[in-house]
Amino acid sequence: MAAPRPQQLHAVKGMNDILPGEVERWHALEAVVRDVVRTHGYREIRTPLIEPTPLFVRSIGEGTDVVDKEMYSFVFHDEPLTVRPEGTASVVRAYIEHALHTKEPVSRLFYEGPMFRGERPARGRTRQFHQAGCEVLGDPGPGIDAEMIDMIVGLYRRLGVKDVEVLVNSLGGKGTKARYRDVLVAHLEPLRSTLSDDSQRRIGMNPLRVLDSKHPKDQEAIASAPSILDVLDDEDKKHFDGLRALLDQLGTPYKVEPRLVRGLDYYARTLFEVRGHGGELGAQNALCGGGRYDGLPEELGGPPVPAIGFAMGLERALLAMPDTRTNADAPVLIAPLGDRAIARALVVARTLRDAGLTTICESRGGTMKAMLRRANAFGSRVAVVLGDSEIDRGVVQVKDLASHAQQELPESELVSAVRGVLASPVAAPKTGEGP
Ligand code: HAM
Repeated sequence: MAAPRPQQLHAVKGMNDILPGEVERWHALEAVVRDVVRTHGYREIRTPLIEPTPLFVRSIGEGTDVVDKEMYSFVFHDEPLTVRPEGTASVVRAYIEHALHTKEPVSRLFYEGPMFRGERPARGRTRQFHQAGCEVLGDPGPGIDAEMIDMIVGLYRRLGVKDVEVLVNSLGGKGTKARYRDVLVAHLEPLRSTLSDDSQRRIGMNPLRVLDSKHPKDQEAIASAPSILDVLDDEDKKHFDGLRALLDQLGTPYKVEPRLVRGLDYYARTLFEVRGHGGELGAQNALCGGGRYDGLPEELGGPPVPAIGFAMGLERALLAMPDTRTNADAPVLIAPLGDRAIARALVVARTLRDAGLTTICESRGGTMKAMLRRANAFGSRVAVVLGDSEIDRGVVQVKDLASHAQQELPESELVSAVRGVLASPVAAPKTGEGP
């Protein structure tokens, strides 16, 4: 009797493979992001994927969805650990741990990588997702706040994402936040019985979170809630007015949204979110979010430095971006005919690679037809064919797989001939031709 087939294993729900073909789009996105942040003076920082759980509980805050429901936390050798749900807390921890404030007056830090939140998977929402983010520590703004928002708008423009909307708000500093909390509780308490269970629970614990609720039962109470902008103190107001004046002068489009709160507790003063409305984006249209977290470094045991940052979701950026993939990197295929040709084909492949051309040598051989079929599967534009007769004469056949033109040339002319074919335009099919 045949042995049972081993059971097939699958990726964890909400955690996706990124296959060749897609990875090229990631590289293109990452290259633009890196170029934009480089020209703004950010330098990359890489922090561990796993951090002590209290780092996230203390910075993101109890009563938030991330801390209460979504963290991948575990205990390893008695130490509570969490796979990072975001990057800001880790960057601030590293900033404090390495006393970066003693080494530079302002730190402009960039990071990129996977983050983990156990949310319900949907289009644009995964459990392992990728962020690119920037954090600036040591600058009170509002100049840097305006520059950051302007940089983000320019970044999405360069990525070809049209139809982005920038929402800004101010949460004020500690005093304002506490005052607004009281005003908000006074508004929500009489409406308690009309609210969702989650929001009822949050009135006592974390009332600002109610404003973030998507539950239909909460929408009326949110729409009628008092505006935080009405309770800003003089300093907060000056800061927010300063930010708006700068954005106006820069011509950066934005909309003030006084009910914008975000799912993390560390924010104070400037808050912003960029939403997209096009491409393949569905309901998860928050492309990027950020804000000021002036109190956090001190709360985590560090110096009292002001700070601001943002993170963009890379999966969502890809959904919003136009697909401009080309076959530019498709390999040149070397097709050896017969055993004797294989060694020569490997040498020819080496010559092309040394010249910087992506090349695959079909050293397992086969018929010409089979090898050209493989070239098509790779999306190759050029095949180089060589058999006994070509070897004896020191020549190769260069085939343009788009036009079917073929030229025989001395091996010494191979590189320039292949480059010539790759650079030549592919003729559009004549009407009535092709499938
Ligand atoms: P966040 O709003 O939680 O902020 O996440 C930033 C972005 O990450 C979102 O706008 C979204 O594009 C993407 N994102 C979040 N969760 C998911 C998910 N489950 N699936 C796919 N994409 C997702 C932060 O994380 C803050 N650390 C941003 C920040 C930096 N604030 C100050 N500095």
